[in-house]
Amino acid sequence: MKKVGFTETVLRDANQSLIATRLPFSAFEPILKTIDSAGYYSCECWGGATFDSCLRYLSEDPWERLRNIKKAMPNTKLQMLLRGQNILGYKHYPDDVVRKFIELAVKNGMDIIRIFDALNDVRNIEVAVDETLKQGAIASGAICYTISPIHNIESYIKLAKDMEKMGVNTICIKDMAGIMTPKEAYALVSALKENVSLPIIVHTHSTTGLAFMTLLKAVEAGADVIDTAISCFSGGTSQAATETLEYVFTEMGYDTGLDKETLRKINAHFKPIRDKFLNEGGLNPRVLGTDTDALNYQIPGGMLSNLISQLTQQNAMDKFADVLVETPNVRKDLGYPPLVTPMSQMVGQQAVSNVLAGERYKVVSKEVKAYLRGEYGRAPGEVDGALVEKVLMGDKPLEGRFADTLEPQFEKTKAELGDVARNDEDVMSYISFPQVAEKFFNDRKAREEKKAFYSIEEVE
Ligand code: CO
Repeated sequence: MKKVGFTETVLRDANQSLIATRLPFSAFEPILKTIDSAGYYSCECWGGATFDSCLRYLSEDPWERLRNIKKAMPNTKLQMLLRGQNILGYKHYPDDVVRKFIELAVKNGMDIIRIFDALNDVRNIEVAVDETLKQGAIASGAICYTISPIHNIESYIKLAKDMEKMGVNTICIKDMAGIMTPKEAYALVSALKENVSLPIIVHTHSTTGLAFMTLLKAVEAGADVIDTAISCFSGGTSQAATETLEYVFTEMGYDTGLDKETLRKINAHFKPIRDKFLNEGGLNPRVLGTDTDALNYQIPGGMLSNLISQLTQQNAMDKFADVLVETPNVRKDLGYPPLVTPMSQMVGQQAVSNVLAGERYKVVSKEVKAYLRGEYGRAPGEVDGALVEKVLMGDKPLEGRFADTLEPQFEKTKAELGDVARNDEDVMSYISFPQVAEKFFNDRKAREEKKAFYSIEEVE
């Protein structure tokens, strides 16, 4: 029987895409055992923005959340998203930090680590993949899917082969903007199946309305696993619905591994939670709709709304058409980086500044300068030589990895923190988000002291 596996995203990507990652652990704790018995290939529950959001908004220790999920879900593989050398943020960390993070993630319950680099520079995922395999977890190499004159089936095959050589266990096509069409998915998955001998996973978003069709064609071409979200947390900027695709593939004769009645229970649990976020404004109904602008402009939806808000702030919406023309030009000058964070912001901001200043690259942000110095990694295509010359003023861009220029950081930070950090996990929270973690540590201490005080009162 043909098989297709499902990765449930309600705890991570759906949560992040629809309600800015505001689901507290208490909201989904009662349903974890049910999710565990549904028959998913994996459950994406950590990484991405969940870590920051736990510390910043939910007063939760992200490591404790992971351990608690693991305890409730011993039978389903837990999965996280990792930005290679950037771990969960946007700056590069030294190798010792990347390795320690992965060691702790696996120790606390992680089974699958999906690893990507915003530029698809494999040097930036190498250490993370190596450590994931050393720790005995599953390393999934993710290709950031984008459209440009230099990104094509051949370039993606090369990337997948490089990842296979590196030892990854699976390859994921990560279409963060939801712009991969059914035809492209069929061609790309078929080509990957022919050229690498690893399971192929497809991740996309419903933003532009393509997702169901794209996943259908991807599976027809041989995709082994697809990412979906339980229906009440699906659609719009989230993933396509789990139950719908389970229904379709079961009818087509695939073994999905999923149990319909269990899926129904999971959805019944999340429905009132979705309604509460809708009623209280945490979920904007607009993100649930279909927005085809990304197809018209070849610019991801989130980036487009950023451009509009920047221009509105500067009272310059009359320049919108010029910015839309300038954006692909900037992207070309920078060697066609995939339009994923932080590149999407950098390209967008530069385009706005080029138009508003009335002169191209009169002002260049420090991020774009760092990019041109090679601090983010290798550009996918050729960077405009005159621009490099102008910005670096004769300096040579970096040849090797930026991480090689960084001093080891973990032990040093651990010593500096002393007993502020109670364990290595705390040290890692601090390295990832220093101010946020510090505030979290202080609040945690205050909560505990208050609790201790009240328990004395109770005794008396
Ligand atoms: Co995503």
